[in-house]
Amino acid sequence: MNPRHLTLHQLRIFLAVARRGSFARAAEALHLAPPTLSLQVKQLSDAVGLPLFEQIGKRIYLTPAGELLAQAAGDVEERLLQLADDVAALRGVERGRVRVAVLTTAQYVVPKLLGAFCASHPGIDVAMHVGNREALLQRLAANQDDLYVLGAAPEHLDVVTEPFADNPLVLIAPPTHPLARARDIDPQRLAEEPFVLREPGSGTRSTAERFFAEHGVSLRVRLEVGSNEAVKQTVAGGLGVAVLSAHAVAAELALGELVALDVRGFPLLRRWQLLHPAGKRLSPAALAFKQWLQTHRPTFPPAAGE
Ligand code: PGA
Repeated sequence: MNPRHLTLHQLRIFLAVARRGSFARAAEALHLAPPTLSLQVKQLSDAVGLPLFEQIGKRIYLTPAGELLAQAAGDVEERLLQLADDVAALRGVERGRVRVAVLTTAQYVVPKLLGAFCASHPGIDVAMHVGNREALLQRLAANQDDLYVLGAAPEHLDVVTEPFADNPLVLIAPPTHPLARARDIDPQRLAEEPFVLREPGSGTRSTAERFFAEHGVSLRVRLEVGSNEAVKQTVAGGLGVAVLSAHAVAAELALGELVALDVRGFPLLRRWQLLHPAGKRLSPAALAFKQWLQTHRPTFPPAAGE
């Protein structure tokens, strides 16, 4: 293949298809007509000389040539973003861009800090992605963001971590629950309770499952739901009990809409970490945001005035 026959525009389109696993979704995201997008991918594939995607059933997958090209296109994209950061750095910290990805549990604290940061650094653009642990680990492995707010750092990835804040997990129930006033509840007692669980891939869920497995309790799962908000509503509706981040339920606990059961071993103590890939050169804007998060880190329970 001759690299001179590839264009940046084609690489961008190709990456959008590869990341979304769908021509239609990439066309929508890029505001392109689907035939235009297909033509660009076809021209790129002709330039490479091998097919880039294969279709199995309704899904499309990268071929080995597609995988190689996706890696190279990702490198080119990262290099151009770095160039933009370097140019911004020449102009000073007050310009630039930060991509941050935070856990669904941290979405109850980081956006507030982000608001204050953006207000005092109006020249810095911040893009924030919210996802569960598994989704964030995939983004981290693909080097898609500058900074991550994650739980335990993954062992298989080379990352730089700093402790950020506590993320205690509590066992919540509706205030009418028979155990609402009980003290020092044995975890075994929960074997009889219907549980509402987060989706697979959630760190909150895996921590709760690990705790009960260690206590020999197999959970009776009544329902699986895909967000902290939906778990709260379902528990408030009386469908079961659940383990959630105390940050996610602070308002409901304060208002008495939910209660935290006094189960032995709870709260489960977890910590959020601030991390980024070890080889990553953080831009001045990203460093400023990291510093901001550290100096404004939340405490739990919230300090007076928060
Ligand atoms: P998650 O976040 O449940 O959305 O994955 C919490 C965590 O991993 O601590």
